[in-house]
Amino acid sequence: MTDPTLGFYDTADLREAARRRLPKGLFEFMDRGNDDELAMRDNHAVLASIKLNPRVLNDVSVRHQDITLFGKPQKMPVIVAPTGSAGLAWHEGEIAIARAARAHGVPFTLALGSMTKLERVAAEAGGPGSSLWFQFYMWPERKLSHQVIARAKDAGFEALVFTVDTPVAPGREYNLKNGMTIPFKFTTRNTLDVLTHPRWLAGVWLRYMLTTGTPRYQNFPESTQTKITALPMGRSSNFCANITWDDVRELRRLWPHKLIVKGIQHPADAVLAADCGADAVVISNHGGRVLDAAPVPILTLPRVVDAVGKRITVIVDSGFRRGADVIKALALGANAVMLGRAPLHGVAAAGEPGALRALQIYRDEIDRVLALVGCTRLEQLNREHVDLSYVRGNI
Ligand SMILES: Cc1cc2nc3c(=O)[nH]c(=O)nc-3n(C[C@H](O)[C@H](O)[C@H](O)COP(=O)(O)O)c2cc1C
Repeated sequence: MTDPTLGFYDTADLREAARRRLPKGLFEFMDRGNDDELAMRDNHAVLASIKLNPRVLNDVSVRHQDITLFGKPQKMPVIVAPTGSAGLAWHEGEIAIARAARAHGVPFTLALGSMTKLERVAAEAGGPGSSLWFQFYMWPERKLSHQVIARAKDAGFEALVFTVDTPVAPGREYNLKNGMTIPFKFTTRNTLDVLTHPRWLAGVWLRYMLTTGTPRYQNFPESTQTKITALPMGRSSNFCANITWDDVRELRRLWPHKLIVKGIQHPADAVLAADCGADAVVISNHGGRVLDAAPVPILTLPRVVDAVGKRITVIVDSGFRRGADVIKALALGANAVMLGRAPLHGVAAAGEPGALRALQIYRDEIDRVLALVGCTRLEQLNREHVDLSYVRGNI
């Protein structure tokens, strides 16, 4: 019988397996932060130094971790975050992660910058039990963005995630050092990197070349769809520096389902999002990949909850690697937590079973920690369960 753990006992194991399997340049693109990686470091340091206050002698023999999000039941309090280029971690990796999310009864967010067409993801990983969300960055030519959003609506995506934290390209020198340049140029260094990772070369790159050709951003309009060898890693060259709250209001008019603004880092912006008609915000510093001096989302969370928690749904992400981290966010008032790198590492390590395993690790840890703090249901968690006094001095 196959070992159900696949030999992965925590998300660090998945990360290590992904590191071994992927070419270094690609692994670093998927794993690292930006500039001096201070935001990424602090995300982890703060989460690690928040303590939980257990209450004892409660009967915790029967436990549940289901929640209701946007009126829909889901089996765990997590959501798979959008990660561009997931299809480079595994052949059609977006479908693999989306299926894993469906099996675990949690939403999957497809990134605009995917290697797999959104219509195919909906066909292969939609249907009963699924909850598909679509993330996008606005293009300078709004009409093109509105067209891709219309495609997502037609394909049955339930929620639209508008990412607003990246008006210009982040600084990621390691991509340049690794030869992940714009346009991509084959150098001795990155060719050797690929050749020394034959499992990835055969299982991902060659599989694309023999079927659909060089991986490309399949969700871009035909007119601008370009092979990844001619565009920056991760997304189009069309960063849109002039997005404003008017765009959110316009999206509210265009999109009939749930509208989520991702990349909120200030309570006042959460209020503006709610005023524009958004149904939810994601407090996020993009996993420490955009502004290196960004605040740590879990510390911004209580202020956002106080500001808008009664009006809209509050989601948080950035650095959540353990079930205990998720419990901390829920106790501080989050409705759910988004997971970025962990499911991505899972799929890079072992395809769909790896992504399934990533979510199972969170499920097991959430269940265990819930019992250890003396609760049987997530609704019983509150700020009394969290001690922030250890945070100072640890970052
Ligand atoms: C490789 C990679 C690609 C990403 N691509 C996108 C993207 O296309 N759109 C977006 O809104 N966020 C993107 N993100 C950010 C994630 O959605 C999420 O905010 C972040 O990964 C959460 O932090 P965590 O990785 O520590 O869980 C990306 C993150 C990674 C690691």
